Amino acid sequence: MKKLNHKVAFITGGTKGIGRGIAESLLAQGMNIAITGRTQNTLDKTVEEINAQVDSSAKVIGIQADVSSFEDQQKAIAETVENFGKIDVVIANAGVGHFAAIEDLTIEQWKETIDTNLTGVFYTLKASLEQLKSQKGYFLSISSLAGTNFFKNGSAYNASKFGVTGFTQAAMLDLRELGIKTSVIMPGSVATYFNNNTPDESDAWKIQKEDIGQIVVDLLKMESRTLPSKIEVRPSFPSNK
Ligand SMILES: NC(=O)c1ccc[n+]([C@@H]2O[C@H](COP(=O)([O-])OP(=O)(O)OC[C@H]3O[C@@H](n4cnc5c(N)ncnc54)[C@H](OP(=O)(O)O)[C@@H]3O)[C@@H](O)[C@H]2O)c1
Repeated sequence: MKKLNHKVAFITGGTKGIGRGIAESLLAQGMNIAITGRTQNTLDKTVEEINAQVDSSAKVIGIQADVSSFEDQQKAIAETVENFGKIDVVIANAGVGHFAAIEDLTIEQWKETIDTNLTGVFYTLKASLEQLKSQKGYFLSISSLAGTNFFKNGSAYNASKFGVTGFTQAAMLDLRELGIKTSVIMPGSVATYFNNNTPDESDAWKIQKEDIGQIVVDLLKMESRTLPSKIEVRPSFPSNK
C-alpha cells in the first residue's frame, strides 16, 4: 500500500494509548478510521479530541464493541463497512493487564485477560476476514515483549501474549496465501494508561504512542513483496528511567 489516503483502518481499543496513537498517525495519512472501545461516551469524547488535534480531510468514527464478544466484532465490522465502504487494514490492539502471583490471581482476572488479549484477537480477525480478502489487506496485532519473555506475576499476561505472538505468526502463513499481509508488533514499555498508569513526564524514557503509530505507517508503506512479520520494539535508553 504505497498511498494510504482513502484507505480504511479498523482499530480495536482506540480510545487511549497505543490504539489511539495508531489512529492519529493513520488519520494524518488521510486514512478513514474506525476505533472501538467498551463505552460509547468515551468513544465520542475521543473522536472529538482526535478531530481537534489531527489536521485531516479523512474521518474517524467510534464504535462500541467489546473484543471478547464475537457478535460485537461482527457488528463493528459491518458498521465500519456501512460508513466507509470497505476495510483495508485491521489492527487488533485492545488489551488489559492483570499481574499477580498464581496464589492471588483470580479466575475472573485470568478469564478477562485471555478473553480480551487472545480470544479477542482471533474474533477480530475472524470477523474481518472477508474484507481483508477482498481488499488484499493488512492484519496487525499488538502483542508485547511479554509475548516471548516471561516474568514473575506475569502468568496470565504472558499466557495471553505468548498466545497472540504464536497465533499471529501461524495466521500469517495462512493469510499470505490469500494475499493478506500480517505482522505482530511486540512493544516494550509504552507511555499509556495500561495497568492504571497515567502518562506524565516520568514516562519520557518510554516508547511514545505516536512511535508505534509511525511503525504502523512504515509497515503499511513497505514494498508489497516484503513482509516484516514480527517486530520487537524497545526503548532506546532504559537507563533514563
Ligand atoms: N503500554 C505498554 O507498555 C504495552 C507494552 C506492550 C504491549 N502493550 C499492549 O498494547 C495494547 C494497548 O494497550 P495500551 O498500553 O495502549 O493500554 P491502554 O492505554 O490501557 O489502552 C487500552 C485500550 O484497549 C481498550 N480495551 C480494553 N479492553 C477492551 C475490550 N474488552 N474491548 C474493546 N476495547 C478494550 C481500551 O478501551 P476502553 O477502556 O475505552 O474500553 C483502550 O482503548 C494492549 O494489547 C497491551 O497489552 C502495551
